[in-house]
Amino acid sequence: MGSSVKLLKKKVARLFKANRVDVHSTHTYTKPAPSVYEQQWLWDSCFHAIVQRWIDPELAKQELHAVVAHQVETGNQAGMIPHMNYWDNAGSELWGIAHRSIITQPPIIAYAAVLIYEVSPDKDFLFSLYEPLSNYHHWLRKTRDPDNDNLVSIIHPWESGWDASQRWDRILKLNKPTDDASKLERLKLVLALKTYDCDPDALEQQNYFSVEAIDFNSIRIADMESLAEIARILKKNDDHTYWMGIVRKAQKAVHDKMVMQKFYDLAGTAEKPIRVNNAAKFISMFGESITQDEASDLVKHMTSTKYWPNFGITTTPTTSDTFAPDRYWRGNIWPSVNWLIYKGLKRYHFDEVAKNLAENFIKLVLEHGFWEYYNPLTGEGLGAENCSWSALAL
Ligand code: GLC
Repeated sequence: MGSSVKLLKKKVARLFKANRVDVHSTHTYTKPAPSVYEQQWLWDSCFHAIVQRWIDPELAKQELHAVVAHQVETGNQAGMIPHMNYWDNAGSELWGIAHRSIITQPPIIAYAAVLIYEVSPDKDFLFSLYEPLSNYHHWLRKTRDPDNDNLVSIIHPWESGWDASQRWDRILKLNKPTDDASKLERLKLVLALKTYDCDPDALEQQNYFSVEAIDFNSIRIADMESLAEIARILKKNDDHTYWMGIVRKAQKAVHDKMVMQKFYDLAGTAEKPIRVNNAAKFISMFGESITQDEASDLVKHMTSTKYWPNFGITTTPTTSDTFAPDRYWRGNIWPSVNWLIYKGLKRYHFDEVAKNLAENFIKLVLEHGFWEYYNPLTGEGLGAENCSWSALAL
């Protein structure tokens, strides 16, 4: 093990210990960051579990069990796994419901489970997650694909994880908004979700937010592949075939509908491309929906200074007139996004580029510390300090 990796591992172990939360002596998870983000978020916890597998695989398994603990069991949202679990209930009044939110986040739970299984082969662990995760993916298909085109829709920017991105400005009827104005729209949208029972069709008819997002769909594809892999390991061969069938259809849909539209997200049932340049397109590699030639072009584009000015990939290109290197989601390096791109690069065998990206990121974390996101021009850490997901560097 290289000395910088050893050092990083020590620092991550210390960070995770400090950010660990034990609840009701039944569940345990890692909070995203002290004081700012005390509750449990879906994709954060999956990333934490992915890192935790190098430190303590049993804790990694428990983190995923906590993610699925408030899965909806009955009603028309049965199967949904919430984007937030409010274990102590503080804050969940926003949703008018106890202990959880009513929306989801990028589905990367099965993917995390398979990575954990690789270092700690425990079939009981996979078995315990298989049904909840199958139900989750059935819910996504049934509830979030009203036009039946194998692309699922998100109904709130929070579901993408890219809360305040320029990607969502037009749909939220915002024009170069301040951070407060954009936050207000996100909060107002929660009321609409409650009124229309999170039904993407109804929300769209009323001109609210309904978007087929390229990164969410690509992550979903990789997650269903992992679910198929879990089915194979558990000798559920029909299920394996079933999930892989959907994976293929979803890959084709991402390719034919989004990649052919120059890698844009699609708004509403009219599927109007959202022509805002951003780094989500690079995450298409994570779900392997593009050809090797398309990936080569994409990587050329990604390695230019407008997307990779210095320390890593910025969400918004530096050449955009809305590029803001220190504003939340409007032109920063995010650990989650960079890790997903790293994994996509590996899938397409761009090993050198992937290695450079990883080395950039490790250096960033070792020099500047564990932050929520970073300024792509200066490397300065921004947002929440001691943030758990920057441990993805490990
Ligand atoms: C912010 C991010 C979101 C993340 C959450 C917890 O809201 O935008 O993606 O899940 O913080 O870290």
